This record gives sequence, structure tokens and C-alpha cells, in this order.
Amino acid sequence: MRALTWHGTHDVRVDTVDDPEIINPRDAIIEVTSTAICGSDLHLYDGVIPGMMPGDILGHEFMGRVVETGSDSTLKKGQRVVVPFTISCGSCFHCEILQYSACENSNPAEKQDMAAKVYGHAMAGLFGFSHITGGYSGGQAEYVRVPYSDVGPIVVPDHLDDDQVLFLSDILPTGWMAAENADLQPDDTVAVWGCGPVGLFAIQSAIVMGASKVIAIDHYPNRLALAKQLGAEVIDFRKTNVREALMEMSGGLGVDAVIDAVGMESHGFAIDNMVDVVKQKVGMGFDRASALKQALLAVRPGGRVSIPGVYGGMADKFPLGALMQKGLQVRTGQTHVQRYTKDLLAKIEDGTLDTTFLISHRLPLEDAPRGYDCFLNVQDSWTKVVLKPGMEMPATA
Ligand SMILES: NC(=O)c1ccc[n+]([C@@H]2O[C@H](COP(=O)([O-])OP(=O)(O)OC[C@H]3O[C@@H](n4cnc5c(N)ncnc54)[C@H](O)[C@@H]3O)[C@@H](O)[C@H]2O)c1
Ligand SMILES: [Zn+2]
Ligand SMILES: [Zn+2]
Repeated sequence: MRALTWHGTHDVRVDTVDDPEIINPRDAIIEVTSTAICGSDLHLYDGVIPGMMPGDILGHEFMGRVVETGSDSTLKKGQRVVVPFTISCGSCFHCEILQYSACENSNPAEKQDMAAKVYGHAMAGLFGFSHITGGYSGGQAEYVRVPYSDVGPIVVPDHLDDDQVLFLSDILPTGWMAAENADLQPDDTVAVWGCGPVGLFAIQSAIVMGASKVIAIDHYPNRLALAKQLGAEVIDFRKTNVREALMEMSGGLGVDAVIDAVGMESHGFAIDNMVDVVKQKVGMGFDRASALKQALLAVRPGGRVSIPGVYGGMADKFPLGALMQKGLQVRTGQTHVQRYTKDLLAKIEDGTLDTTFLISHRLPLEDAPRGYDCFLNVQDSWTKVVLKPGMEMPATA
């Protein structure tokens, strides 16, 4: 089959690789119809997540048709399914309490030491996301093996097309959990750093949850315009002093909650961020946390901090004092996707949520390397790239 494989920093290729096979009775094989490129994939593309190996198949946002099932799979051939990026067994201590991204069984035993050394514990297996999270082949491919297929995949009705449901695999539940983690109350003002897919869905979710004011921060005009269309007030951090603006917009109090939907590759020209860029480049492995640092200073005392943005290692000069002295509450994590898919599918069906506005480009799988390049380098207008394995390359490309 054809699949998008990682070969090093900014080097991804569409290669011919072996077809996946059923290994365990609970597995299913999915023929992928749509798969998206995520901001998390950019961390792999930029080479800032450890544990990648040449030839790894990327992709953790995908859906398709079931073509093969193991004897214990509950899926049926021909069903259309969206697959959560978190691989979870459904029956360990953490899965039982719906903390699916901490599943104890899906990250294979021989890989667990690597994660435990960095984080104290191994975390769940994730599709297409480094050997720290299990080294599973991802879904930016014609076919993919889905372990624990009786737990993760959600069957979607045929009257909803791929564009309407694909983002149940990750970014919609991630935006939703980000807003939920901000514990929003009806009169709250919440500020969201980053108007990429995760930030935009966090904004949409916060509004559905009833936040009275949502403020979006980025520097890309098109992405800020999308945030405005969703109902947010916007701040361009290149033109405006973010902390001063937020103080003013929250009546001098500071915002009640903050959401960091930027993560470890924060842009910015403050001196600490520029130093972090260099450290990251020479492999000293520091997260670039300037958006999060700004958020910790801007939130009001006693406020809530939600961090959907991904961090991989250690952050330098972290304002721990602000966190403690202001009595902040912090909630974060890889999304417990399986916890949210059913409710969010219902919200898509009844029209409460529409995520199709986000998609800016649909490309054949064969064109995926260009998709990565543009999603990284023309971020403003390439808001979300969906790859279609069945689509022909245009004759002129
Ligand atoms: N927790 C999870 O399970 C989960 C799931 C999916 C994605 N993520 C993470 O969420 C983050 C965002 O993902 P995405 O797909 O939206 O990525 P993206 O790269 O498309 O968007 C990030 C946005 O942040 C903006 N930004 C950069 N620096 C900023 C700053 N200092 N202040 C304000 N905005 C700034 C960028 O301009 C960009 O628009 C990534 O770290 C990704 O890995 C986490
Ligand atoms: Zn993703
Ligand atoms: Zn489990």
C-alpha cells in the first residue's frame, strides 16, 4: 500500500510499504477515506518529539471503511468509522475511569521504559506518534491496523459525510476537553492562545458551553478572522501588548480562564522565546513555552489554566511562582478522545457543532509532503489539510 512515512526533520515521503495485517483478535483493518494533518504532526515534522524512526508511518486523525476484522472485534465489514488517536484497551484502571490517554495496556511493554524515563509513567499508545507512545503505524495511508477496535472507533451514519465527522478523531474532542478543563462558568471571560484547529474548536466549544466572553490571540489575520466569525474578540499579538489588552478587556481583573492551544513551538520575538528556539534546534530539548508563560501571567488569581497544547520535555524559566502565588488550577493532557466521541457526534447531527468551516485544502495522499510543507510554512491560509487516499493527483501537479 501507499503511506506517508517520516524520514527526518522536514523529510516525509509517500512510500510503498507492507499492507497491515490483523495481529490480535480485537484488531480491525480500516481502508482510509480521509485523514488530516495536525499541529501535533508538525512537532514530528520539525523533529522536536523524541522517539521517531525513519520509515514510521504518520497520521493520527483518520476515518474509513472496515475491511477486515479479528475474531473479537465488534465492528462489521463495510461500516464507516472514525478512529480516536488515543489507543485504549477499555478495561485497565485508567480506561475504567475514562482516562483513556493514560491506558496502561496499549503502549507495548518493550516501549514503556522510554516513556517512563521521561515522564515517570508510560502513557497510552497513540497512532503515528513516535515510539514513546508505542510506535504504532498511523493512518496517513491507504490502510491501517486499529487495535482494540471494540473500544475506540465510532460508527458514523452514512448521511454525514467525511468532512462533517473526521475531526471526532482528535481536534474536536481536544477543543471540547480544553474548554471543559477551563471549567467555564456563565459570566466567565476566557482567553485562548492559538487560532489553529485546536484553538478554533476550543473557542467554538467555550461558546457552546456558555462563556460570556471569549478572546482569541494569534498573529495570522485569516485565523483571527475565523475566530471572530465564531464569536470571539481577537488580539493580534504582533500589534498589541497582550497582557495589557487582556487586563482592559476583563475590567482590570485578569481573565477567569486561559487556554494554551499553541504548545511547544510557540512563535514570538521576546528574548526568552528566541533563546528557546536555538536550544530546541541544537537538541537541548527545551519546550518553547512563551504562550503558556504569557497565559500564566494574564489569568486572574484563583483562575483556571487549560493546556491542550502539546509539550514534550522540559521548559526553561517557567513562572512557577505565578502558578503557586496566584493559586491557579491547571488541567491538561492528551485528550481522552473516547470519552467525548458519542456526545460530540450527537452535537454534529443536531447542528450544534459544525467543523467543516475549518478545512482549507483537500489533497491526494500522494501530495502529502506538499501538505506538510504548506501547513507549516503558509499556516495562515492552510488552516487544515485533509488527505484523500482515493483522490487522483491533478494532471498539472
Ligand atoms: N492535547 C491533545 O490531545 C492535542 C490534540 C491535538 C493537538 N494538540 C496540540 O495543540 C496545539 C495546537 O494544535 P493546532 O493543530 O491548532 O496547531 P497549529 O500549529 O495549526 O496552530 C497553532 C497556532 O498557534 C499560534 N501561535 C504560535 N505562537 C503563538 C503565541 N505566542 N501566541 C498566540 N498564538 C500563537 C500559531 O500562529 C498558530 O495559528 C499543538 O501543540 C498540538 O500538538 C494537542
Ligand atoms: Zn491531531
Ligand atoms: Zn486501558
